[in-house]
Amino acid sequence: MYAKKFVACFLTLLNFDFVQPTVLKEDHPFDLVIFTQFWPQTVCKEWKEHNPSHTCAMPAKKDSWTIHGVWPTKLGTKTPAFCNRTWLFDPEEVRPIEKDLLAMWPNIEVESAYTLWAHEWNKHGTCAAVLEPLNSQLKYFQQGLTWLQKYFIYDILKEANIVPSDNKEYRIEDIYQAVLKNVSVRPAIECDREHGGNFIVEVRLCFSKKLELVDCDGIAFHDMEEYGSILTNCNPNSGVYYLENAVPKTVYVQLYKLLSWLQWFTL
Ligand SMILES: *[C@@H]1O[C@H](CO)[C@@H](O)[C@H](O)[C@H]1NC(C)=O
Ligand SMILES: *[C@@H]1O[C@H](CO)[C@@H](O)[C@H](O)[C@H]1NC(C)=O
Repeated sequence: MYAKKFVACFLTLLNFDFVQPTVLKEDHPFDLVIFTQFWPQTVCKEWKEHNPSHTCAMPAKKDSWTIHGVWPTKLGTKTPAFCNRTWLFDPEEVRPIEKDLLAMWPNIEVESAYTLWAHEWNKHGTCAAVLEPLNSQLKYFQQGLTWLQKYFIYDILKEANIVPSDNKEYRIEDIYQAVLKNVSVRPAIECDREHGGNFIVEVRLCFSKKLELVDCDGIAFHDMEEYGSILTNCNPNSGVYYLENAVPKTVYVQLYKLLSWLQWFTL
């Protein structure tokens, strides 16, 4: 019994989707709801880096941050997840808002948006659905659209003269302050730091269970380090890039530097 529970917990932590969480089913506590927007150019860059044959489905509007997800979250964890395995995503449920979803919640990584929506609903939406304003697929996805329009990161950064550029380096403090100033709560900002890079990729805003903005303090974060009061994994000691193009010159510059270094090293 305990062994089974332990194994189930362990596999759940690893996000193994095939575990039947019978022993965990009764309770899926969470503290807040994270709303994550991402920057398609950087998402596409990462996707292509995984495999050069990958192509991206970019949003029609070039200045568009788009929605990654709406995630009920227990502080310090990446749970709950998959709270109802029989309530699966159904494209018919979101048909009335499908056009807006395609524009604002597209799947950058493959052609079919449904795979992203199905993943987000099955993993996170089924947990969010205990909250009355999020208790259907239509309401859950609509809430994402509403938040994107209300807290559109492109406009928020632009007000602080932070705009996409392949060459310009921004300070993480400035990006952070721009968002903080606008929403008056502490966001969390994620960078893609693969290959020594420092590319802004996600901005997270946090909401209480009443769906009011709250600080993101305490959320679990990939490689999270706190720099002063900033919740981020971005490297504070180097500039942050806000890419204008998924395959920017700067990546080639880095690749060139790497190749030069390898050549020097092997000769
Ligand atoms: C799971 O979802 C189905 C379909 O909406 C619903 O009938 C059922 O009551 C849900 N189960 C739980 C445990 O919430
Ligand atoms: C937040 O940014 C939006 C978009 O630029 C702007 O319309 C709004 O007035 C800003 N709000 C505050 C409080 O700065």
